[in-house]
Amino acid sequence: MTTCRTTGLTVEQQERWPFLYSHLSSDIEIPSLIEVDEQFIIEMDKEISKILKQIGDGKAKSRESLTRHLTGLLQRRFQRNAKVQAFGSSITGLSLGTGDLDLCLSFKKEQPKKVLRKVAGLLREEGMMDIQQIPKAKIPIVKFTDSRSGLDVDISIENRLAIYNSQMLKGYAQDKRVREFILMIKYWASRRGINTAFEGTLSSYAWTLICIQHLQMTNPPVAPNRQKGGKKNLLEINGVSYDISNDSSPFESKNQQTLASLLISFFDRFATRWDWNEMVVSIRNGSPLNAEKKRWTHTGPLPLEVVTGQSKDRMEHVMPIEDPFDHEHDLSRVVKPDGAMTIQEEFMRALHLLSEGKSWKQICTPVMEIDEEPEDFFHDLRTQNTDLLKVRLDEMKSDITHVEEHIQSLVTERQNSKELLDLLRGTLQEKRNVKSNRQSILSELRPLSMKVQELRQTRDGINDRIAIPTKRIHQEMVRMFESLTSEVDVFNTQSLGRERGDFSYFFELQAMYKASIESNEAHQEFIRLRREQNKEYKALKDTNSQEEEVLNRLIEKNPELKGINLHPKTVKEFQHNSNKLQKSINIQYSKKHELKREIGRIEAWIRIATSKGNQRQRKDSKPRENRRQAPAVNINEVRERASSGGSFSLNELDALMAKGGISGIESTQRSSTSNQSERRKSGRKKSVYRVDPRQGRKRGKKQSRK
Ligand code: CTP
Ligand code: MG
Repeated sequence: MTTCRTTGLTVEQQERWPFLYSHLSSDIEIPSLIEVDEQFIIEMDKEISKILKQIGDGKAKSRESLTRHLTGLLQRRFQRNAKVQAFGSSITGLSLGTGDLDLCLSFKKEQPKKVLRKVAGLLREEGMMDIQQIPKAKIPIVKFTDSRSGLDVDISIENRLAIYNSQMLKGYAQDKRVREFILMIKYWASRRGINTAFEGTLSSYAWTLICIQHLQMTNPPVAPNRQKGGKKNLLEINGVSYDISNDSSPFESKNQQTLASLLISFFDRFATRWDWNEMVVSIRNGSPLNAEKKRWTHTGPLPLEVVTGQSKDRMEHVMPIEDPFDHEHDLSRVVKPDGAMTIQEEFMRALHLLSEGKSWKQICTPVMEIDEEPEDFFHDLRTQNTDLLKVRLDEMKSDITHVEEHIQSLVTERQNSKELLDLLRGTLQEKRNVKSNRQSILSELRPLSMKVQELRQTRDGINDRIAIPTKRIHQEMVRMFESLTSEVDVFNTQSLGRERGDFSYFFELQAMYKASIESNEAHQEFIRLRREQNKEYKALKDTNSQEEEVLNRLIEKNPELKGINLHPKTVKEFQHNSNKLQKSINIQYSKKHELKREIGRIEAWIRIATSKGNQRQRKDSKPRENRRQAPAVNINEVRERASSGGSFSLNELDALMAKGGISGIESTQRSSTSNQSERRKSGRKKSVYRVDPRQGRKRGKKQSRK
């Protein structure tokens, strides 16, 4: 196998997408699922009901308590202005137990600035792990992992539409068949690794919408259109109006199809009959929209062209899925070329395996290793000696006491460290206040000094010109005035020239007097401002001692802090230490949790083993005729009950486990399924449908070119 000349796919790519590749490279017809054997559907339904029982949301309680914890935390941080609402699968009833916790943080009054950074800081203080901020998205998000429960959490800011669309999905999921159908597709998508939007496949939300579309299109419909009819409800966000009408009235479907039959028709529809180039998934319409009319036709290269390196351009509307409330939002925007190829491969694979009569579990074989409970809960304990197990149990119980003590000491240490941190923060704040006080003094001092300077110049400038004191000028002015205005002695008149000289001297005196007054005033103001300036200088000096005082007070209360350099960096170091302590606490809590679980498991096993031993003992000690009949375990009946979810005793549980556990039931079913497969292989029908050319073949070329 080398790079294929028809498709351009490399050997690795051919191995990665084998089903798709075989259809792209040769003209194989796609198997049809239109006529599927009834018995196969019955078996598949049994298998599905068993899986549904296993996948219950085991983390629901952790989610609830984490939601409460985070709500309290955020409300304390934002002074009750914050509102925290859960959305997504934790409220829709569509959780597989493996999904994340989606929370929306909104604000009753004004939204604080840099809110994302504040939330991230708060989470860091709480010792949360892998905190990631996505501030530039349309809806800003902080992602993290709760270190105690291991839950992945998304906190999005003001994600109002999500609250409403989750409400609507919850309405759709009221119907058991709809809910279970969506859960099964989410189960398939998650185990096959095609439900991660940030890795370039579709989000769980997008898969949910595809499911609803399918159920709306069955004949008769299994799901209604909840956006038609009902009360009209408009919501305005940032000036855009969204129709969030949601008719939540109960819907009675006349469709009698079982889950298996609906799943088969789902793969039949989306693997072969759905033309992604022309059809847009639209649950608000109840049926697909025409891509051209919606102006959502595929543009840019085909996924195949990108993965084979023929193009590097961006693809648009590769699998168009319309958001039910935000009609401009195509949920396939995140799908990358690799992701599109993988999704198409998975559709083809499911189609092939179903047509070969393979079990649903085989179709959903995980692509990655996942943590699944071993089907025999006691598998590793069966061969162990009970007495040794009891010793191990005692050791574990003593371990748990040590872990609890360790937790207690870590919690106390963290509390102390947090108190110290608060103190440091407070002191740093006080220091900052002193600094800002100093800053404001300086900012007042600057213009004051300039003014003083200015006044000094005015005063000295005048004094340089006029050396005579004001009083003297005034006396001279009075004298001149009197001489100029006294009665004229006709016999002793002055010459005209002399008189002119006196007048001009008088006017000069007048100007001098005015300037001298100005100089005096400038001087007075100068003196006043200098006094003020001195006061400010003193206040400035005081701030230095205040800063020292703040530090001294801190050290007086906490002598261990002597020599500390109170700086934001120091506070950060303390913060870091506090986070580290929180992480250690979380690790110890998980250790305690694990120990508790294991203790419970061993105790349960010891109870079973002991009761078995007692039975054996009774059997040996009593004569045959007097022996009371030990409760007989009819394994077939127990299996029957296990597969239908009934309850059973410890004895029965053990008998079931010893006979191969739940997998024992499967192997029985599988053998009938594989017979089925044999039967089907011989008379399999071929369909006329071909692979979606958009995922593989070049547009317009349906013939094989190999
Ligand atoms: N959501 C949205 N727009 C998207 C993706 C998600 O509005 N492009 C909102 C929807 O309200 C959806 C919620 O986010 O219900 C959670 O999305 P997601 O985690 O993908 O779906 P879940 O049903 O929560 O799936 P899982 O259980 O896998 O977490
Ligand atoms: Mg989710």
